[in-house]
Amino acid sequence: MKNIVLLGFMGTGKTAIGKRVAEKLEMEYLDIDNLIELEAKIPISEIFSLFGEEHFRDLESKIAKTVSKYENKVIATGGGIVLRKENMDNLRQGGVLICLTARPEVILERTQKEHHRPLLEVDYPLVTIKELLAYRAPFYAQADYSLDTSDLTIEQVAEKVIALFKESK
Ligand code: S3P
Repeated sequence: MKNIVLLGFMGTGKTAIGKRVAEKLEMEYLDIDNLIELEAKIPISEIFSLFGEEHFRDLESKIAKTVSKYENKVIATGGGIVLRKENMDNLRQGGVLICLTARPEVILERTQKEHHRPLLEVDYPLVTIKELLAYRAPFYAQADYSLDTSDLTIEQVAEKVIALFKESK
């Protein structure tokens, strides 16, 4: 069976939804950000500060390639994975690509409490969120499906993801 690959901007719910979908379908859950940290042995914020974003993107591409060969997994990705075509090609080969979205204000609210996302550790995060969303829109549009999570509970989104996955088969 194919993988369910969750794409989408930071704060759209990929981790929470991925875990819930995996539980409900009794599939294994994998988180690319976690796998990167396991391999690098340091947190993502340190990978960015010590080695820069390009190095992080290289690690991300390597892990994306590896997990794309698996089957039957629910895979949560990092928000920027869509930026490299090779990642999209690899992930698409082994899975259904479902992009979670949310309004910028909702993303701000969800991400403000945490401080592990280097790209949002700026003076005006809402401005950055809007800029990045605008830049990335054509990349996220390459997913097979898109789901707005702004006004839904984790349970509701999980049900919708499962329905899309079944529809895709
Ligand atoms: C990033 C998103 C993060 C993480 C890194 C870069 C991005 O993952 O991969 O901080 O470029 O959007 P989440 O989307 O899980 O927060």
